[in-house]
Amino acid sequence: MTNHSAVNRSPDQLKSRIQQRQARIGIIGLGYVGLPLALLFSEQKFAVTGFDIDQRKVETLNQGGSYIYRIAAEEIRAAKAQGFSATSDYAKLVEMDAVIICVPTPLNQYHEPDLSFITDTTHAIAPHLQAGQLIVLESTTYPGTTEEVMVPILEKENKSGLKAARGVSTAEKEFFVAFSPEREDPGNTTVARRDIPKVVGGVNPQATDLAGALYGSIFHRTVPVSSPAAAEMTKLLENIYRCVNIALVNELKLLCLRMGLDIWEVIEAASTKPFGFHPFYPGPGLGGHCIPVDPFYLSWKAKEWDFRTRFIELAGEINTNMPYHVLASVGAALNGYKKSVKGSRVMVLGVAYKRDIDDLRESPALTIIELLQKEGAEVSYHDPYFPFIGKGRKYDLQMKRTELDHLGQYDCVLIVTDHSDYDYRKIVGEAQLVVDTRNATKGIDSPKVVRC
Ligand SMILES: NC(=O)c1ccc[n+]([C@@H]2O[C@H](COP(=O)([O-])OP(=O)(O)OC[C@H]3O[C@@H](n4cnc5c(N)ncnc54)[C@H](O)[C@@H]3O)[C@@H](O)[C@H]2O)c1
Repeated sequence: MTNHSAVNRSPDQLKSRIQQRQARIGIIGLGYVGLPLALLFSEQKFAVTGFDIDQRKVETLNQGGSYIYRIAAEEIRAAKAQGFSATSDYAKLVEMDAVIICVPTPLNQYHEPDLSFITDTTHAIAPHLQAGQLIVLESTTYPGTTEEVMVPILEKENKSGLKAARGVSTAEKEFFVAFSPEREDPGNTTVARRDIPKVVGGVNPQATDLAGALYGSIFHRTVPVSSPAAAEMTKLLENIYRCVNIALVNELKLLCLRMGLDIWEVIEAASTKPFGFHPFYPGPGLGGHCIPVDPFYLSWKAKEWDFRTRFIELAGEINTNMPYHVLASVGAALNGYKKSVKGSRVMVLGVAYKRDIDDLRESPALTIIELLQKEGAEVSYHDPYFPFIGKGRKYDLQMKRTELDHLGQYDCVLIVTDHSDYDYRKIVGEAQLVVDTRNATKGIDSPKVVRC
């Protein structure tokens, strides 16, 4: 292996190593974001080392296995043949030319940013930092994190007195830092990952340029912005835009239900407008690691500037209320059959936070199951991706998947996630009552179906 002596890694040399696919790339955090990213670099013939504190993940990958449903074991094996390996040994970072951080950024119990994964990772990187290395943060976070939180730790705790490059650098005693947000849309098969433009913002123009070169080798287009904070804010704008628009259609759905209108029909009609309208769809509540979480990173940071982000708060309020609306709808539907929620057998179809993915994080299904159980319902569930629901950060359900047969035995079948594997016509045929939160039964005309 080449010995990457610190002083030899000038920005020009690093750029040329990237362009010639000779740069060694370290990816920290091998989850839904980091692992696919490692595979993309590997496909482009880079030697990639993945770092994770989860030993189980490290071992699975090194044995050529996968723990993410949509990533086949063959893809891991192909990457291994290309030099990919996983480790939890941060000392190996000294060999890397570029290091990309993809660790979680959740909220704590008070709905405030929990940056502990970023700070833990940064403390772990610092002692191994080398002059001329490029460090890129991808985790979604509030504007200022890269420069106000990460850079000071790296500068203070590295062993060689290195500083982040500001202005024009020769990299003699400096390292490069940038932020580049992840834009993956899990389950989206219409846009190839490579076609999603990648925004990059460096602490100095050289860092932006190097990050652009790095990502330019796996994405068709990179979009440079003036600073890490601008890149951090870009990601939040994208997710807040989504969160606020989903809240808008959720609220209009409630009105449409009251007015006897079908919101789905209305959205479909509005979508025919060739300009100025982008469709968003209502649902049982927000889910996933991003949309329910990220906006609160900004509302928290805004307080430092004595500023209230009212759109975010209002959207949060409306979206958080949706599982309660589902509970009320199940109650009303059962009422039509002279039944109460208490004592009724309810089968929840789909618990993933969205269609055709194996991700349970922040799924509204979990809240809905808890609410139904609290009201005394006997709840079962089915999801092709989850044979078991154990304990998460906010729930502890310990439920085993029930098979899909004999749907007639349930008082209510509740469609929470509209996986495309389900045969909805058959489901409606067998069930006594179907409450549909996703318009999955579109086109099925049956008095048994209640859309909510
Ligand atoms: N999942 C998505 O679709 C998506 C999309 C856009 C942005 N993001 C953002 O990307 C970031 C990562 O999300 P994710 O979905 O990949 O999370 P994840 O939980 O799937 O993966 C994170 C990984 O980081 C590892 N990790 C935690 N602390 C570590 C440490 N100190 N050192 C090494 N590894 C460590 C964990 O073990 C885990 O494997 C988050 O900020 C998220 O908001 C996610």
